[in-house]
Amino acid sequence: MGGQSRVYLGDLTLPSSCLSSARRSLFLRIGTAFFAGFFVCLAVVAQYVSSNQSCLPFSLFTALLPSHVGAPEWHEYPPAEPTNAFPSMFPSSVGSPGPTQAGAEPGVAATAPAYPLHSGVVHLVSPTRFSQDNVKDRTKDFDIFRSWGSLSPWYSVQRGKFGIDSGPEAPDTCNITGVHLLHRHGARYPGDYSNGTGPGRFALKLNRNAENVTATGPLSFLDDWTYKLVSQGLTHFGRSQLYDLGVSMRMRYGFLLKNFSETNTLPVFRTASATRVLNSAQNFALGFFGYPLEGQYQQQIMIEAKGSNNSLCPQRSCANNDDPDRGYRSQTHVNTWKAVYLKDTVPRLQQYLDGFELDVEDAYAMQELCAYESVALGYSKFCELFTEKEWEGFDYARILIKIYRYIVAWGSPFGRAEGIGYVQELVSRLTQTPIETHNSSTDATLHNAVTFPLGHSLYVDATHKTVVLSVLTALNLSSFAAMGPLPTDHIPEQRTFRTTDIGPFATNVQFQLLSCSTEHDPQIRVIINDGVAPLANLKGCQDHPDGMCSVHAFVDAQKENIRSTDWDFVCNADWTIPDGWKTTMGYPPL
Ligand SMILES: *[C@@H]1O[C@H](CO)[C@@H](O)[C@H](O)[C@H]1NC(C)=O
Ligand SMILES: *[C@@H]1O[C@H](CO)[C@@H](O)[C@H](O)[C@H]1NC(C)=O
Ligand SMILES: *[C@@H]1O[C@H](CO)[C@@H](O)[C@H](O)[C@H]1NC(C)=O
Ligand SMILES: *[C@@H]1O[C@H](CO)[C@@H](O)[C@H](O)[C@H]1NC(C)=O
Ligand SMILES: *[C@@H]1O[C@H](CO)[C@@H](O)[C@H](O)[C@H]1NC(C)=O
Ligand SMILES: *[C@@H]1O[C@H](CO)[C@@H](O)[C@H](O)[C@H]1NC(C)=O
Ligand SMILES: *[C@@H]1O[C@H](CO)[C@@H](O)[C@H](O)[C@H]1NC(C)=O
Repeated sequence: MGGQSRVYLGDLTLPSSCLSSARRSLFLRIGTAFFAGFFVCLAVVAQYVSSNQSCLPFSLFTALLPSHVGAPEWHEYPPAEPTNAFPSMFPSSVGSPGPTQAGAEPGVAATAPAYPLHSGVVHLVSPTRFSQDNVKDRTKDFDIFRSWGSLSPWYSVQRGKFGIDSGPEAPDTCNITGVHLLHRHGARYPGDYSNGTGPGRFALKLNRNAENVTATGPLSFLDDWTYKLVSQGLTHFGRSQLYDLGVSMRMRYGFLLKNFSETNTLPVFRTASATRVLNSAQNFALGFFGYPLEGQYQQQIMIEAKGSNNSLCPQRSCANNDDPDRGYRSQTHVNTWKAVYLKDTVPRLQQYLDGFELDVEDAYAMQELCAYESVALGYSKFCELFTEKEWEGFDYARILIKIYRYIVAWGSPFGRAEGIGYVQELVSRLTQTPIETHNSSTDATLHNAVTFPLGHSLYVDATHKTVVLSVLTALNLSSFAAMGPLPTDHIPEQRTFRTTDIGPFATNVQFQLLSCSTEHDPQIRVIINDGVAPLANLKGCQDHPDGMCSVHAFVDAQKENIRSTDWDFVCNADWTIPDGWKTTMGYPPL
């Protein structure tokens, strides 16, 4: 965003004969400030426009968008064959490191009276203003970074958010003996630049129409806007999220590594193979262990491909999941809601855009662009186009509708089955007993003492949002199921939490194991983004002020969930979804 972005022709009208070349010269030749642009404009216009027309002040002009608007702008780094690369002249080890001695392992979760809160948005810039309608009814605690649903960066949810007034720090009478962490990848780029849906579609549509479009007022930034988002990978900010999560977990639970030193073993962390997930796992490890990683842990990469069982990417081996007739990926409900909450948005934005007919999908894509550009580029002009209420609507659209209306987790007929593989593995780890029958998404070939070790005090698994939410579904945590099904014509007043609280980028679930002087048996807690989740509805678990349940009872309840979740039926049987059918249990109609 240097000088070039100042050279917009915001309100300049030129006769069409001179337009494109005048415009092109301007954009080719001017790279400096607004004033330079203005004077060159005078020159160029004088050159092209018949002599009796003068270069009027900018505000009286409008101009069509330059042809590069909306075009993809990608930058390859590193260069393929740098001319100055001489690795041998830059040895990675030169000796003379000076004396160092590692300190004791930290353990904030065990030693501090509170836990460090994560605000999650370092590196990101908030919009300085919002759409006008917003000003008077802005609520004090509105935070745009927490209004993007699954595109929000993770943050520590407010204490008590899920109904348990306790934090991740160990209760006074307890010691932490183990942690199983399941986390989502960090901020990623959107899907392809294509005619399909979302930001890529909007950019392409704008680009194709550029020669006939004028953008003014709050949309005049489009004059210089290109599509800078590549597809699918982890963003730089996403990388920092996972690095930070790794550091944070080392600070909280570093003392668990003593167990590995004592038993002369290394932790085994697992990840799905998609680039954004793999890169997330690697950055988590860098944060957790520090560079270099060699000799500190072992990373297992589980293949995401058709035909491969993978508990961290179960949908690939679930045949019915690809069948469009079973309601999966149905966008109907999401689209109904989009049309409701963006009803006034489309005409409002349309005022500033001539020659381009905005539809609901475009407005929604512009909201997505705010989120995606922010987490990829640090800042987005799209953010200020929308009101607080529209951000509420976006957050609601983002997953609640998807979650509770057929797409994933509680509202999907596949949710429970797709989470059950990880639950089987969790039970296997908690009981130190190998899985008997691989009858869901688990991969028998990886379940051996080396790649699936039992008896460790620390496990870390990296995966996708869908999987994290499906695991929560399979665990039968009913307070989340109780949210749905949700209306598609308004946001219900009684909402205990937002999408953003459970499914953001780098969302993480800590299964925390405790030994307590007040409890006879070992205990477990489920902590989602630092919010303790209630387990009381599970058979054998009680209401507990810190959300604990005995590992024994928890395991028994999970074994029952495993018995009643039939992967083969869900993924291979010929069931159908009746019209109007809804679920909050993540299971097909029986
Ligand atoms: C979009 O669709 C048009 C026409 O169908 C096609 O020519 C173009 O290649 C497509 N562009 C992309 C990026 O998919
Ligand atoms: C722009 O408008 C002109 C004149 O109406 C039309 O011929 C041309 O097809 C339009 N271009 C695009 C990309 O829609
Ligand atoms: C993969 O999953 C299927 C279905 O649960 C199971 O029958 C098969 O044995 C599994 N294969 C491996 C290698 O684990
Ligand atoms: C290491 O942790 C595991 C799992 O919590 C536990 O069973 C084992 O006793 C611990 N070993 C040592 C030496 O502390
Ligand atoms: C917690 O650990 C400390 C130090 O190892 C030990 O003295 C104490 O008894 C433990 N408390 C519980 C409740 O297990
Ligand atoms: C699952 O949750 C439901 C609803 O709270 C409860 O009735 C049921 O007993 C739970 N199942 C198990 C195995 O805990
Ligand atoms: C799958 O295997 C587990 C044991 O690993 C068993 O408890 C469960 O009943 C099996 N599921 C089905 C649907 O057979």
